[in-house]
Amino acid sequence: MSKKVSINYNDQNFELDLVKGSENENGIDISSLRNSANLITLDPGFKNTGSCKSSITFLDGEKGILRYRGYSIEDLAKNANFLEVAFLLIYGELPNKSQLDKLIFDINENAIIDEDLKKILEGFPKSAHPMGILSSLTSALIAFNPEKKISLNNNNGDENDYMYNSIVKLLAKIPILIAWVHRRRKGLSLDYGDYSLGYVQNITKMMFQLPNQEYSENDIIVNAMNKLLILHADHEQNCSTSTVRIVGSSEASLFASVSAGISALWGRLHGGANQAVLEMLEAIKNDGGDTKKFMLKAKDKSDPFRLMGFGHRVYKNFDPRAKIIKVAAHEVLKDLGIDDPILDIAKSLEIEALDDPYFTSRKLYPNVDFYSGIIYKALKIPKEMFTVMFALGRLPGWIAHWREMRMNNDPIGRPRQIYTGENHRDFISLKKR
Ligand code: CMC
Repeated sequence: MSKKVSINYNDQNFELDLVKGSENENGIDISSLRNSANLITLDPGFKNTGSCKSSITFLDGEKGILRYRGYSIEDLAKNANFLEVAFLLIYGELPNKSQLDKLIFDINENAIIDEDLKKILEGFPKSAHPMGILSSLTSALIAFNPEKKISLNNNNGDENDYMYNSIVKLLAKIPILIAWVHRRRKGLSLDYGDYSLGYVQNITKMMFQLPNQEYSENDIIVNAMNKLLILHADHEQNCSTSTVRIVGSSEASLFASVSAGISALWGRLHGGANQAVLEMLEAIKNDGGDTKKFMLKAKDKSDPFRLMGFGHRVYKNFDPRAKIIKVAAHEVLKDLGIDDPILDIAKSLEIEALDDPYFTSRKLYPNVDFYSGIIYKALKIPKEMFTVMFALGRLPGWIAHWREMRMNNDPIGRPRQIYTGENHRDFISLKKR
């Protein structure tokens, strides 16, 4: 017998279904509450609201667990490549050899950008933020790749239809756009890449290869990039993924939904934190390196300064991605022979915060963005591009959620509100105001 939860309101009892997840998470299904009791729930920031059922990613914020389709993030970051993880997230299983080969083939077939899109890129001012450009270009892709309406009313799944085409197109074109945005900022000619290389290798070639130079693969850079992309690939119902799902729920196309996701990721409380962390660490260094001074600022409620890269909406113990990235940051700096004082400042801040009741009582620990910028910097990626790299990593997650939402035929997203404005009043003519 399914369990019920009772709510007593106005001396009446309302029985609500209890929904159980595969990891024993419990949720109260309140969808009948409006009709039965004329009640809605209020939860600003959706801090305790489940918006959907999803079988893509599981995370336990208390225990610091993150799994994609059941596989631990530690296992995937150590053993998988980014395209395998993308396939896993989108389709639910790790690909076999022929599935992976087909995905690679289809991505390579679609790795072209219309010349007119290049003109749009060239129209942006050099000073424009790469996230704004990427969001716009992703949206502009629709004009060059019109997506037909996807019918889910057949038994063929979606593999042969436009959903699959849209997915491989995005996986093919977004890395080119990102590499181009980077090259243009550096004043380099645009590079179409070499599709005999692996997906991540090709991204590094497209971004970094200098004109008239042979591409020589740097394993340290490729491995670090692969790991970072995997660690960012999905994080269940975060701000940008929820945005992608809610935009897609109106039956907006995958490209339009992902473009909105890129905009949502941009903010410094979400993906933009990686740029903000590095700016903060540089500011501390330029100010003389007194971390204690900035700790005091972070704790001072009258000061808007926050310790960027600390705290998380769901991780209340540690962010498992941060643990992996911290080790990777050390390795990359060591392997590349870089001695960056910014890493020492980061380590001091972490040590001080982990010993400070302000941070420990609020369960504020380093998050994924705290150390990722240090690696990006070591890879010579400019800080304005950090969040773009996050977007590249998050792409498979956005696609997986958009596809899941469409395959489940989820209803259009449309929250309720508690209205707190004026009650009815009569119009006052201009003369009397
Ligand atoms: N520095 C100082 N105080 C903080 C910080 C911080 N980084 N984060 C939270 N607090 C305090 C906050 O002032 C509040 O204190 P009080 O209870 O006294 O009012 C308490 O901790 C709870 O904070 P909150 O803002 O209510 O928590 P939230 O769940 O709404 O926000 C967060 C989560 C990640 C937006 C927030 O911790 C933050 O702003 N962190 C810095 C930005 C950052 O690193 N963002 C990247 C998140 S990880 C990448 C991603 O997946 O998006």
